[in-house]
Amino acid sequence: MSQPKRYTITAALPYANGPLHIGHMAGVYVPSDIYARYLRSKGHDVAFIGGSDEHGIPITIRAKNEGVTPQDIVDRYHTNIENTLKNFGVTFDIYSRTTSTKHAEVAQDFFLKLYNNGKFTEEVSEQYYDEEAKEFLADRYIRGECPTCGNTDAYGDQCEKCGSTLSPEELINPRSALSGNTPIRKETKNWYLPLDQYEGFLKQWILEDHKHDWKSNVYGQVKSWLDDGLKARAMTRDLNWGVPVPVEGAEGKVMYVWFDAPIGYISFTQEWAEKTGKNWKDYWQNPETKLVHFIGKDNIVFHCIIFPTMMKAHGDYIMPDNVPANEFLNLEDDKISTSRNWAVWAHEYLEEFPDQQDTLRYVLTANLPENKDNNFTWKDFQTKNNSELVGILGNFINRVMVLSHKYYNGVVPAATEKYNEVAQIKEFALRIGQHIEKYEFRAALTEYMNLARLGNQFLQAQEPWKKTDSPEEVKNIMYAATQIAAALGQMGEPFIPFASAKILAMMNSDKMDWNSIENADEFIAAAHQLGESSLIFAKIEDEAIAAQMKKLNDSKVQNNMTNPDAVAQKELVSFDDFQKMDIRIGTILEAKKVEKADKLFELSVDTGIDVRTIVSGIAEHFTLEEIVGKQAMVLANLAPRKIRGIESHGMLLFADKADGKLTFVKPEEETPNGVQVG
Ligand code: MF3
Ligand code: ZN
Repeated sequence: MSQPKRYTITAALPYANGPLHIGHMAGVYVPSDIYARYLRSKGHDVAFIGGSDEHGIPITIRAKNEGVTPQDIVDRYHTNIENTLKNFGVTFDIYSRTTSTKHAEVAQDFFLKLYNNGKFTEEVSEQYYDEEAKEFLADRYIRGECPTCGNTDAYGDQCEKCGSTLSPEELINPRSALSGNTPIRKETKNWYLPLDQYEGFLKQWILEDHKHDWKSNVYGQVKSWLDDGLKARAMTRDLNWGVPVPVEGAEGKVMYVWFDAPIGYISFTQEWAEKTGKNWKDYWQNPETKLVHFIGKDNIVFHCIIFPTMMKAHGDYIMPDNVPANEFLNLEDDKISTSRNWAVWAHEYLEEFPDQQDTLRYVLTANLPENKDNNFTWKDFQTKNNSELVGILGNFINRVMVLSHKYYNGVVPAATEKYNEVAQIKEFALRIGQHIEKYEFRAALTEYMNLARLGNQFLQAQEPWKKTDSPEEVKNIMYAATQIAAALGQMGEPFIPFASAKILAMMNSDKMDWNSIENADEFIAAAHQLGESSLIFAKIEDEAIAAQMKKLNDSKVQNNMTNPDAVAQKELVSFDDFQKMDIRIGTILEAKKVEKADKLFELSVDTGIDVRTIVSGIAEHFTLEEIVGKQAMVLANLAPRKIRGIESHGMLLFADKADGKLTFVKPEEETPNGVQVG
């Protein structure tokens, strides 16, 4: 898009059912804030929109577990999250919440518009219903036996033991998590968005029009969804926590959380516009507006397929110009996990490292998972703070300040000759800006630090302290160094806003906008009086890092795990029980899909005893081609079971990796079929 008139920037609405951790900060809030700050500094009209996502099943589950209401939960975390973001300097123009009355109105209007224009399809389906609790059961409220691994405590949407994604109908012996009773099947009507009807539009808009400007991780995920074909998706649910569906016959139903939440961006913009006297439609319905969604990769389908389809069906809205989704940030080489407390909590960081918000912003920006998952370690955090922020940036500014006070009582000297370094400064600004506009925040930060490196090298090479006999030259050197220092204060604002403000304050400088920075030949004038020098970045000592490592280790010990992602050990079995299992090496001879079951393959397996049929829930992990001919371990004497009408004689055994992917476990040497494992 050339020359947009204004920008609408959204940052994924965090669920208000827990505090934020560094994964949220790196994934969404730090990059979006850099982007918003930079664009404002460029003089653009920006609406930077955020708020809490306060609906959804995890919130009601948390409330039930704690014996409080869902509203209690979201009140608690909304405030916590809002404060955390503010304290990290995230400059939302509004941070609102989806339980507001305004939001319900806007979401209902949106729903009605689609409803009245016949954009939904109605479908009656059978859902699980708890007769005692008189409630339809969300997938998470149904427990039962996993068809893949036999875990008797699987959820209706997922088995946490074997990681397979499930639908409630697949559970064996389902029971309600509300009452423990066996739920019945009951008919219910819901409204669906026929995503399949928008495939052509989505393919053109994303796969063609944005082939070259969207990030490859985002483009690839969208392409694979579109290649697989889209299905209608229910936009209403039989629940009592959410925005009520405003149509006749929908009593007791609420909107699907992924329907109402992104409308939050719109309703919050309206709330902001009312307060500031703006016209909200400019920010959502004007083709000269550039709309950008900052999200994590688990949100891609919702922001690239479902929400755009909703807006397209509505008819009045613009499409996002880009959805620069980030991958995930790991912590000390393990996946961040809320339930296992494997996280660095943002609000705790603020307590433990007060006034060092910029250090975390800096380290996260330097490690942003822009194209692939990345890793945060406390050791790297310490190194980046001590050798880069303190050692390079802070050190350079400090040297300039100290020398200026020593030589000139803090008055910037006039130069008779200008060093080439001074002329280069604005090119840094230009390159930083170009990277930010392309969502390359790591590269932008590297450029910024390169300017600080340049400053240090310049002083080191010129050695003004050795040139007491040529005061003219010293003035020229110090003039140039002071320009670089002031420019660092100016250009740091999007990345390290607190330090940037400190640097400018101590140099007694006013803030410049980014256009002036890009065009400036001078950042601080001769004869300008600098203020007093003060500490910008504090060193982080080994003890502080050791304390953080201890905290993480405590989480490990508490969870009794060496690998925070490992699944808990199963119940003990006797040796005799173990002896009963007949595990063999076998070879997959043939494989085909099971009709209407996305997860199942029907396999013909040579167990060495016989060739038999085994139905296996591995279809989402492997292609048919890649498994035929492979050897695997087979539990041969598992009692035969009918799965989707097919008799399965045994089970194939796989290793289940932390990322949820299965991998073959096979003998290291060639081993004939039928050999026993034990
Ligand atoms: N709450 C969701 C999550 O944390 C994000 C919602 S973004 C919105 O994954 F667009 F739906 F608002
Ligand atoms: Zn399972």
